[in-house]
Amino acid sequence: MSLRPTEAVPARTGTSLLYALLAQLRQYTDGVNLGRGDPDFATPSHILDAVRAALDAPERELGDASRLRANLCEAIAARLRRINGIQVDPQTEIVLTQGGQEALFLMVQTALAPGDEVLVPEPNYNTYADAIRFAGAVRVPVATSVEEHFAVDPEKVRAAITPATRAIVMVSPNNPSAAVLSPDQVKALAALAEQHDLLVLADDIYDRFLYDGAVHTSPASLPGMKARTLTLNALSKAYAMTGWRLGWVAGPAPLMAQLRRVKEATSGGVSTLSVRAGIAALTGPEEPLLEMHAAYTRRRRIVLDALDSAGFRYGIPQGGQFVLADMRRLGLSSLDLARRILEETHVLIYPGVSFGEAWDGFMRITFLQPEPVLQDALARVVHALSALG
Ligand SMILES: Cc1ncc(COP(=O)(O)O)c(C=O)c1O
Repeated sequence: MSLRPTEAVPARTGTSLLYALLAQLRQYTDGVNLGRGDPDFATPSHILDAVRAALDAPERELGDASRLRANLCEAIAARLRRINGIQVDPQTEIVLTQGGQEALFLMVQTALAPGDEVLVPEPNYNTYADAIRFAGAVRVPVATSVEEHFAVDPEKVRAAITPATRAIVMVSPNNPSAAVLSPDQVKALAALAEQHDLLVLADDIYDRFLYDGAVHTSPASLPGMKARTLTLNALSKAYAMTGWRLGWVAGPAPLMAQLRRVKEATSGGVSTLSVRAGIAALTGPEEPLLEMHAAYTRRRRIVLDALDSAGFRYGIPQGGQFVLADMRRLGLSSLDLARRILEETHVLIYPGVSFGEAWDGFMRITFLQPEPVLQDALARVVHALSALG
């Protein structure tokens, strides 16, 4: 008897491994989470105000809910035009989702059938591996290296293409490597997709977090690419709205019609309160987002300085909210290292192995804590690591 997809996804890898470390962290009163992926900032006040106002003037459930969702899709279409250079029809080419996570899952289930191969530059956000297994598809990793700051080499992607290849995943800025695909890399990968008739699964969730002049290019903005690209995004990172669970997928109408059917069968529409919040976020002032970006820029420097002082190599983060550091010289598995750091310093740093076996010995440090907390936690970690060699 063959395994059902739920049984085929191993329980102790990826996400569940991280949950075990988080449970241990919660036991310490002075614990600091530098593993977390959710922003530490509060959701900006104008967004909360909009939701408060809505609670005082309750809408008629059905009629108003669909009008509100249509308004949000208009705002998302405007954002896609302005930030990403992608033109979409808000009615037929956007589906609202419960955060980026559901967007990712729906995107993968829509694009891939059992047996399809999908090219995934790695390291990569661990949920992709799970979603690909659920689809019964085959993940074909394309390696990057710390020496090249985790840059994706389009020639390596080309070499991995077979007649069974159906799609390429492009997460830029990437989680956990924080590498950003340059405009030339995106063009080269898009050309491969056209030549070999592949779909592109683009994850733009960190597109507002760029450093040192890095430029973000959405694959669907290139001529001819919209027809073969699904693009996901969410409010969680840019607006500190993880708990509001609001994201979306945008893409060509025929694929989006399929995606919508899966969405409607699984969880129906997204919550009306989150839709209110989303409209306020996307149509309101940008200052809160820019202030958060400025804070992340300062914190990034603090993390890089700590790693430099301890002599660890890392991929220079061009985007995102984290650094992937190479700690292989300590000779411990990254899970043992994460446990040891957690026990000795009460600081949680994510083990690279949670992003795939090949990344054992690497550690992901996020900068989603206030500066003094970050300074103190890193001093504890650097001290503990210096005893290890
Ligand atoms: C690359 C990437 N895509 C999607 C997600 C899911 O985002 P959300 O928190 O909106 O579910 C994450 C979350 O960390 C991510 O890093």
